[in-house]
Amino acid sequence: MKLVLIAGDGIGPEVTAAACQVIEAAGVHIDWIRADAGLGAAEHYGEPLPEATLDLIRTHRVALKGPCTTPVGKGFRSINVRLRQGLDLYASVRPVRSLPGIRTPFDHVDLIVVRENTEGLYAGLEHQVVPGVVESLRVITRTAAERIVRFAFELARHSGRHRVTFCHKADVMRLTDGLFLDCARAVADEFPFITFDETPVDNVCLQLALDPTQYDVLVMENLFGDVISDLCAGLVGGLGVVPGANLGSRYAVFEAVHGSAPDIAGKGLANPIAVIRSAVMMLDHVGERAAAARIENAVLRTLQAGIGLTRDLGGDGNTATITAQIIKNLE
Ligand code: NAI
Repeated sequence: MKLVLIAGDGIGPEVTAAACQVIEAAGVHIDWIRADAGLGAAEHYGEPLPEATLDLIRTHRVALKGPCTTPVGKGFRSINVRLRQGLDLYASVRPVRSLPGIRTPFDHVDLIVVRENTEGLYAGLEHQVVPGVVESLRVITRTAAERIVRFAFELARHSGRHRVTFCHKADVMRLTDGLFLDCARAVADEFPFITFDETPVDNVCLQLALDPTQYDVLVMENLFGDVISDLCAGLVGGLGVVPGANLGSRYAVFEAVHGSAPDIAGKGLANPIAVIRSAVMMLDHVGERAAAARIENAVLRTLQAGIGLTRDLGGDGNTATITAQIIKNLE
């Protein structure tokens, strides 16, 4: 099977290499087609997201991706935003579950963050009106709003979940979130067997801090989803453990919630679990269900045993030791 691999920047090459090792050890042979994106690609080709990379994903349909660095406030537009828009990967799916062996304030967290990935304030439409005054356009379209909410309901239905919560700020952003909310209500009517709630996003943050176990599937626009995803990662052990998928009707790119972690890059300290679990989602997606389950279980056993864990999980190990333990725990 040929799949695309984008190693990315910072800790990306370290954690994606670990994921490839684990997949191979689980007995799935993937002929990786390496593609460039990120700072490295910008330096090499003068373009952080070469068209050739998009073409490779268009050809092979599925990619595993490491994080890419985006310089703050200058330089090129976020590669991730361009990649998601360019391939119409409209749904970001981030399952957030309590994990064995990781002590957190709440047990039994089991929710999925579904984020609209192509519009909102991340549409990238910013300009200067006059010096000292800038504008960013928040784009919400009926088409994109309906399809992401429908995606969330379908996901709930297929995964045996019973509640979808739409997070919004329609009281303040009356037109944009007003339209999104109307769309959400209309789509919810198609799924009378699934409970639908609409909650202001600030209240969702409060509720997540008080009792995240009350949520099942959360669906929201792009910026809210970015923020809520990191918050939710913090509830179950941090950015090192939460996987993600960017899905469209044609293509799929699997990547962790975390970024390129420049503070620990190149030191062999990064936790590869988030990318390994993103690879589990990828294996599920391409029909390698048994291998996906074996790897996920190996990760859970490794966390439970607490041997060789990386520092973000309170251990004194590194990328290599935790990867070796996961491979050892494959059954
Ligand atoms: P970050 O997620 O890279 O790091 C935040 C903190 O979490 C840091 O202290 C880092 O060391 C720690 N951390 C993250 N992943 C870890 C892991 N696997 N193991 C252990 N510790 C981990 O977020 P930050 O610093 O805001 O962003 C750095 C760069 O990454 C930026 O250029 C940003 O644009 C980019 N980024 C890229 C993403 C992507 O490609 N999907 C997503 C988020 C950020």
